[in-house]
Amino acid sequence: MKACFMGLGYIGLPTAIIAAKHGVDVIGVDINKSIVDETNQGELHIIEPGMKQLLQEVIESNKFKAYTEPKESDAYFIVVPTPFKGNHEPDISYVESATRMVIPYLKKGDLFVIESTSPVGTTEKMAELIFSQRPDLQGNIFIAYCPERVLPGNVIFELEHNDRVIGGIDESSTEKAKSFYKIFVKGELHSTNSRTAEMCKLTENSSRDVQIAFANELSMICDKAGINIWELINLANKHPRVNILQPGCGVGGHCIAVDPYFITADFPKESKIIATAREINNYKALWCVEKVKNHILEFELKYKRKPKVAMMGLAFKPNIDDLRESPAQSITTNIVHSCNNADIMIVEPNVKNHKLFKLTDLKTAYDTADIVVFLVNHKEFSELNYRKDVIVLDFCGTFKKI
Ligand SMILES: NC(=O)c1ccc[n+]([C@@H]2O[C@H](COP(=O)([O-])OP(=O)(O)OC[C@H]3O[C@@H](n4cnc5c(N)ncnc54)[C@H](O)[C@@H]3O)[C@@H](O)[C@H]2O)c1
Repeated sequence: MKACFMGLGYIGLPTAIIAAKHGVDVIGVDINKSIVDETNQGELHIIEPGMKQLLQEVIESNKFKAYTEPKESDAYFIVVPTPFKGNHEPDISYVESATRMVIPYLKKGDLFVIESTSPVGTTEKMAELIFSQRPDLQGNIFIAYCPERVLPGNVIFELEHNDRVIGGIDESSTEKAKSFYKIFVKGELHSTNSRTAEMCKLTENSSRDVQIAFANELSMICDKAGINIWELINLANKHPRVNILQPGCGVGGHCIAVDPYFITADFPKESKIIATAREINNYKALWCVEKVKNHILEFELKYKRKPKVAMMGLAFKPNIDDLRESPAQSITTNIVHSCNNADIMIVEPNVKNHKLFKLTDLKTAYDTADIVVFLVNHKEFSELNYRKDVIVLDFCGTFKKI
């Protein structure tokens, strides 16, 4: 079995490596030559525990090699980015271009699978594209969609143990795709059609977004009402059928903050809750900016000097270095640009050098600040002693009870 993975990023590269580890002959393809070169040298260009060693093993056993162009295989996997455009419309141009690249290599009996998070109907569109260029393949190849749901940092375990949803453009495609994933997935493989599988991935992340929006909305209500949000949620969750998530300073990352737009763009009239959740989670970051600004102004008026402000955390979630779509980073950027009346210190223990900001070490910032703003619940922050002598703006529950 020879498989060609188009896209060697956070998802494509680990999946290709795990498939090779299970005996598949893998061709890894990326249009970025430096990724291809680095990968062939056994260097991992992404951060993922344990993955570098597996990469070196599959290179040594000749089960994996990276290229900038596809090669003839038995199965093709599209794992390229699906960002959104300026107006929040999904951009499937990478999927289309990767599909066009493999079309000349497809032959009777091959499997073609899209793993990229995609708007509903993308797999059918790519099938149409394939058949328009290669009418000889109509009814002769298998086409399916199989979304990925791994947690970065735990990818080796989750790639093998998570259940997968697999949706073909017809039943034989679903079965053919299942027979491939059975090679390395120990979780259950759930059959459906391609549209349902596409929607399933979007639903999972939209569900998280809506639930976080509920917590974020409550946090703003409680702030106005003088109620401790963390105590409130803890008490409400004592109800056997209530499970409210924790609020934060917004929602970030390249999945939960992006994928719901793939639904709202195509179904604007029907997706009111999903669209509103996106608005609430975006608004929460602006609300945090206003809170910080107001406290800086009050401090300046009261003490007739600039406050020192510690902005704690830049990543989009706790204990990682990923800054993509991070509300903590956008709040900090906003404060740095708009508050000349404060000395801003920026702390991110998971990042050594930031492209734009000079970072301050945790102890210096925390010990010298007049205003401390907790934006991300990193473990280093929750180990700090609470300072009663400064203003603490705790947007992520670092000191839940205070
Ligand atoms: N990262 C995650 O945690 C995660 C989880 C679930 C789903 N996804 C989805 O998986 C898809 C891939 O995400 P990612 O995080 O791996 O992206 P990534 O940006 O890390 O990697 C994508 C790679 O594809 C390459 N590429 C672009 N066009 C190409 C082409 N035509 N041929 C070959 N390579 C090409 C890029 O150079 C890049 O290296 C996206 O749709 C994403 O939404 C990601």
